[in-house]
Amino acid sequence: MKILVVGSGGREHALCWAIVKSPKCKKLYCAPGNAGIAQIAECVDIAAEDLDGVVAFAQQSKIDFVVVGPEGPLVMGLVDRLDAAGIKAFGPTADAAILEGSKIFTKDLCAKYGIPTADYEQFDECDSAKEYIIRHHAPLVVKAEGLAAGKGVILCRNDNEAFAAIDHMMTERAFGESGDRVIIEEYLEGEEASFFALVDGKNAVPLVSAQDHKPVYDGDEGPNTGGMGAYTPAPVVDDAMAKTIMDTIVKPTIEAMAEEGRPYKGVLFAGVMITKDGPKLIEYNVRFGDPECQAMVLRFKSDLLGALLACAEGRLNRIRLKWHKETALVVVMATKGYPGYYKKGMEIKGLDKVNGAENVVVFHAGTKAEGDRILANGGRVLGITARAPSVAKAQKQVYAAIDKIDWPEGFCRRDIGWRAIKR
Ligand code: AMP
Ligand code: GLY
Repeated sequence: MKILVVGSGGREHALCWAIVKSPKCKKLYCAPGNAGIAQIAECVDIAAEDLDGVVAFAQQSKIDFVVVGPEGPLVMGLVDRLDAAGIKAFGPTADAAILEGSKIFTKDLCAKYGIPTADYEQFDECDSAKEYIIRHHAPLVVKAEGLAAGKGVILCRNDNEAFAAIDHMMTERAFGESGDRVIIEEYLEGEEASFFALVDGKNAVPLVSAQDHKPVYDGDEGPNTGGMGAYTPAPVVDDAMAKTIMDTIVKPTIEAMAEEGRPYKGVLFAGVMITKDGPKLIEYNVRFGDPECQAMVLRFKSDLLGALLACAEGRLNRIRLKWHKETALVVVMATKGYPGYYKKGMEIKGLDKVNGAENVVVFHAGTKAEGDRILANGGRVLGITARAPSVAKAQKQVYAAIDKIDWPEGFCRRDIGWRAIKR
């Protein structure tokens, strides 16, 4: 089969890395890809959000199956466009991608169908939002309604922080129109985990759990990012907890979406808080997590392409997935300044010393090739990933690899996995 992966991050490199190993994959393209992906696939210079460009390329090149990585094109309706052109695709339609595209849709769905989540109220007016804060008091969580690149959530420890968050989103419009409506939520206490399932409209197959590290600095200090590192599985999600998450959150959501006339297909990524009252949904994403996906593919033993196809074709009830029991851990190397302003174009050296290392795989995110040189070309740049019998061992292998990389303008957290190691 001819496969096209859409996207350019570490997640898409990880997907390509797994897909290219499938006996079903005869030719792999990626739009637009990055320097790492270019080593295993043919990159085509089409932006992920250029829906016309992606559909036209898929038609011209007779692509058999398109795997969409990021949420942007899903929410914009890329899968709908591909369906209309008769091209098979992995990912939800726009109607279903609303689970990530609109936080209010998801909160209302949870309320209507009894799916456990934090109490909330929505506001499109600054004064009423502030009155709510005065009535309920911090700790509270303020969220922009629309997409805000993972940055539209502010945890407010006191009322003043909550007022400031409202001003930031609604008055200063820091996230543009995504902040014209906000949700204010109850602050959930507990341990957070990510949970992934493949869904084909009707059937759901659990994948694995993972834990991300969103704050930019060690000790979970500093502003939130897209994720600075992750490991799988998450010790807090044992088999019993995984079953509870499937039974109380994932399956009721799939039934609810079918009931609403928005059948869900693709990977469903539930961010959950394990509270003393059980797991509660924090949010849904309609795609694989990044960097979680980079760690996940190292544990995946089955044919990933086969699984994604079964998902798109409604055959998930007939497949069984196999996983390595070991842990996989990924540490993100980012350009200094991220998640704020950063420079591009500095050379990264030493990658050849790392790639051969046992059980270590380097996934590229924001990289660009210039001749033989690899240049940093984004905020999150590399995902150094290893699989090992324990989180501590995987962590050791990853940091040993990172120490061989010569890139003075880059940085990483040095404590990825601390929560699991402390247990
Ligand atoms: P989100 O983008 O919705 O995943 O939010 C970003 C992060 O904020 C989450 O990963 C959680 O760590 C935290 N968060 C979001 N909502 C809540 C909540 N209601 N209570 C506690 N923490 C939350
Ligand atoms: N790492 C979190 C996310 O992909 O949204």
